[in-house]
Order: sequence, then C-alpha cells, then structure tokens
Amino acid sequence: MDALFPGTEQLVLCHDPEVGLRAVIAIDDTTLGPGLGGVRMKAYPSERAAATEARRLAAAMTLKNAAADLPFGGAKAVIVVDGPVEDRDALLRSFGRFVRRCGGAYLPGVDMGTSVRDLAVIGETADDVACADEDPSPWTALGVYAALRRAVLHGDDRTDLDGIVVAVQGVGHVGADLARRLAADGARLLLADIDGARAERLAAELGGRAVPADAIITAECDVLAPCAAARVIDVTTVDRLRCRFVVGAANDVLASPTLAGALAARGVVVVPDFLANAGGVIHIHALREAWSRDALERAVLAIGDRVEHALADAAATGRTPVESAERLARERIAAVRTARDVTATVPAPDPVARTSTRPVAA
Ligand SMILES: NC(=O)c1ccc[n+]([C@@H]2O[C@H](COP(=O)([O-])OP(=O)(O)OC[C@H]3O[C@@H](n4cnc5c(N)ncnc54)[C@H](O)[C@@H]3O)[C@@H](O)[C@H]2O)c1
Repeated sequence: MDALFPGTEQLVLCHDPEVGLRAVIAIDDTTLGPGLGGVRMKAYPSERAAATEARRLAAAMTLKNAAADLPFGGAKAVIVVDGPVEDRDALLRSFGRFVRRCGGAYLPGVDMGTSVRDLAVIGETADDVACADEDPSPWTALGVYAALRRAVLHGDDRTDLDGIVVAVQGVGHVGADLARRLAADGARLLLADIDGARAERLAAELGGRAVPADAIITAECDVLAPCAAARVIDVTTVDRLRCRFVVGAANDVLASPTLAGALAARGVVVVPDFLANAGGVIHIHALREAWSRDALERAVLAIGDRVEHALADAAATGRTPVESAERLARERIAAVRTARDVTATVPAPDPVARTSTRPVAA
C-alpha cells in the first residue's frame, strides 16, 4: 500500500476553533528518544503546505539530533497564523494540550515566530517543553563559529581566521553573535540584513562593511555564512556564489540537495547546516541534564570535530560533506534500532524468578 506520508512516524493535525488554533505536529523518528523540534508560527497558504513544511523540518531535526549524538529523535510543529491572534496565550495552551496527547513523543522548543515566553505558556498544559527558560541562540552561534573555524583551518591549513573575509547574511540573534566572535578573531566582515539599519549598526560596532541584502549571497568572500532564511542557495544563485566555504545557522540552506554536488564541483565546501547549527539542541540537552557550563561549552565546540570528520570522510570517499554527515547520522539511528530489535527478541525473564525472595549477599 502506498504511504500517504512516507517516512513520518506520526502526523498530528490540531484544530481548536474556540481559540482559532490550526497546527500540525510532525514526528519524524523517535528511535533515539522523544522527537525534539521547535514550534514555528507563521502564515501558510494551506494546511497541506504547513504539513509539508513540518515534515521536512522534522526530518532535518532527526539528522541534527542524531549527528550531535543526542538522545532525541526529530520532530517539528507549525502553528498556522493568517491574521491577528485574538488570545495568543489561549491558543498556545490549547496547542500544549495537543502536545500532551502525543504522550511524550514530541518535545517542543522555540523556532521562527515563537519565543521563550511562548514555550513557557505551552508548558502550562504540555507535560514537557524545552527552551521555556533560556534562548539557545548564543549556543547556536558558538557552534556555527566552531564549525566555520574548523572548516577554514582544515581547508586552508592555517592556524587562525585573521584576515579571512566572512559574509554574514542576517544579523539577528545568531548572525550578530557569530559576527562578534569572528571580529574578535580578526576576520573581515561583510554584513547584510533586510533590516538595513541593523546591519549598519553592527558594521559600525565591529568595523565591518554593511552590504545590501540582495547582494550578500554573491559577494566576493572566503566564507558565506547564511544566518537568515531557508533555501537561499537555489538554481538562480548557485553559479554566482563567489565564496570558498558555506557555513551558517540557517536550516535547509540549499533549495535542493543536488546543489551540494554542483558546488563541490566548483570547489565550494558546504558544511552541513544540521551539523553547524546544533549548538541550540546541545544546550537544550545540557539544561535537562544539569551539565556545567564548561561541559556544555566543550560539547558545543565538539561540533568542530564533527565538521572535520565529515570533511575528511567526504575527501576520502568522493561524497559531499552533506552526504557524509547524513550517512553517519543514519548509521547511528540504524545501530540503535538494530540493538532495540535484538533486545525485543530476547525472551523476557521469568516473572517469578524476578520477584524471587532469595537472600541478597551483603
Ligand atoms: N536561534 C537558534 O538557536 C537557531 C538554531 C538553529 C537554526 N537557526 C536558524 O538560523 C537562522 C537565524 O536564526 P536567528 O535566531 O538568528 O533568527 P533571527 O530572526 O533572530 O534573525 C534573522 C535575521 O535575518 C534577517 N533576514 C531575514 N531574511 C533575510 C534576507 N533574505 N536577507 C538578509 N537578512 C534577512 C532578519 O531581519 C533577522 O535580522 C534561522 O534560519 C533559524 O531557523 C536558529
């Protein structure tokens, strides 16, 4: 039988006309643990379009969490808003009740259009939420910085970023923090944002140059760091890029996976976005496990090691770094699934023996 939504473990449509809630929760894979993924709130042309986006983003979360060695599967939710929301908190609480019904299979976090406060409100009715206390963006920025640094040092056989030209697209939460770290390392910055004044201000602060938003993708630079929107590299821009590396925070930076091959053929190294931008999900795990700040920082900086591993694997096998990283992530999921299946086939211990009152050695 043809699957209607192949690959997605569970797709939940949420409707509550009383508060105007229309949402989709896509749980892609829970082999490694509850599906962790943000709640996106934005307008969609149709519920089908919202479901398509939720499923695609959920699949990317599966890869991101697996590649970062976290005990989470992948999921994503989108709340469709196509006008002013009358009572935002009521809508979020209603959404939280749908999350609760997933019985622990979905762990929501922040995403485009939602805030730390929104997650706290969802947490009033859901059993468990992430990001209800702290914005993960600074940790995402640290991870992107570690990925960018390692890619450039590995590729150019150098020991620092001094003089390297980095074009940052989008200087919001992650992009601005990344730019500050790069400036401290002596990188030369080209900064762009659709909010031009924001880019100008940061350029003045860091001694960089503000560039019009529509020119940043094709600016001449060593590294293009997309930190704004998804799918900014497409068939219309791919041949016009004038960078040697693409490393950024934006999810799904390539409009199609085939573009990675086209860029590799031109010698442009694309660091997989799901490796580079995993600092935020590592931060979520660290908070839940009460890690020290040092342990968290070490774990986020280890993104650099994963990037180097993917680049080395790609060079050795002729795959693109995206293919290499995806393969490693899928191998981890497959290994856990196999181990789980083997355990499931081992006969359960005799319940009588388990409750035996044999004396226990002191
Ligand atoms: N914040 C996180 O922890 C995190 C984690 C993983 C992935 N990401 C992804 O990283 C990206 C940045 O996240 P953020 O939290 O900094 O978002 P943000 O909204 O704080 O910043 C995005 C910035 O990009 C600008 N922008 C939007 N479209 C643009 C365009 N076409 N050209 C130039 N500038 C444009 C916006 O004006 C804004 O200043 C997003 O794609 C997000 O999905 C973020």
